[in-house]
Amino acid sequence: MHIKQAVLETVCGITSVLPKNDLPEIAFLGKSNVGKSSLINTLMQRKSLARTSQAPGKTQTINYYKVNDSLYFVDLPGYGYAKVSQELRQKWGKMIERYITSSPTLKLICLLVDIRHEPTENDRLMYDWIKYHGYKVLLILTKADKLKRSVLNKHIKMIEKALKVADEDMVVAFSSETKQGREEVYEIIGNMSIS
Ligand code: GTP
Ligand code: MG
Repeated sequence: MHIKQAVLETVCGITSVLPKNDLPEIAFLGKSNVGKSSLINTLMQRKSLARTSQAPGKTQTINYYKVNDSLYFVDLPGYGYAKVSQELRQKWGKMIERYITSSPTLKLICLLVDIRHEPTENDRLMYDWIKYHGYKVLLILTKADKLKRSVLNKHIKMIEKALKVADEDMVVAFSSETKQGREEVYEIIGNMSIS
């Protein structure tokens, strides 16, 4: 995949009407601070088009990035961020739910989980819920640069087991720091959006 162009086209807040796009969409979902926006920047080969932060809760809107005039990367708010009010968390949850259940051109959901840790209860619920809605999942295990290479496989297996990952789903270890996994993700996205 060769990135010729990437632009932030649409930003949707809690009450916004979601755009009716013709092009395929690929969504990035995961708990707050797991590295969704960093991953999108790495894929778009832009340093900071998607805003990132060390503090969780950075992305609070649904952001549609149009890539090469051929598809959208959709950056979603993170879930499970304990420091925002229950009310706001519920609103973000509803916004994510509305997006997943009402986006006809959504082709692939990338679920991000930190490769260092056991998936959270929220990660498990999210995975099951995405599968319930019939989507294929690309499980992206982030921050792989923070682990020794020798233990990567052990962690991948631990997370696959905890989530009970379906045979049809794909798993990639990824790092926005070293770009590990980027080519694999490009290949999967390339195959997805033409099928
Ligand atoms: P929210 O928008 O708050 O839900 O977070 P997010 O999932 O978009 O995370 P974001 O991309 O903002 O990254 C959170 C923090 O993790 C930032 O400090 C990033 O620099 C760091 N980070 C993201 N990806 C990686 C990675 O692959 N390796 C390392 N070492 N740090 C990463
Ligand atoms: Mg973000």
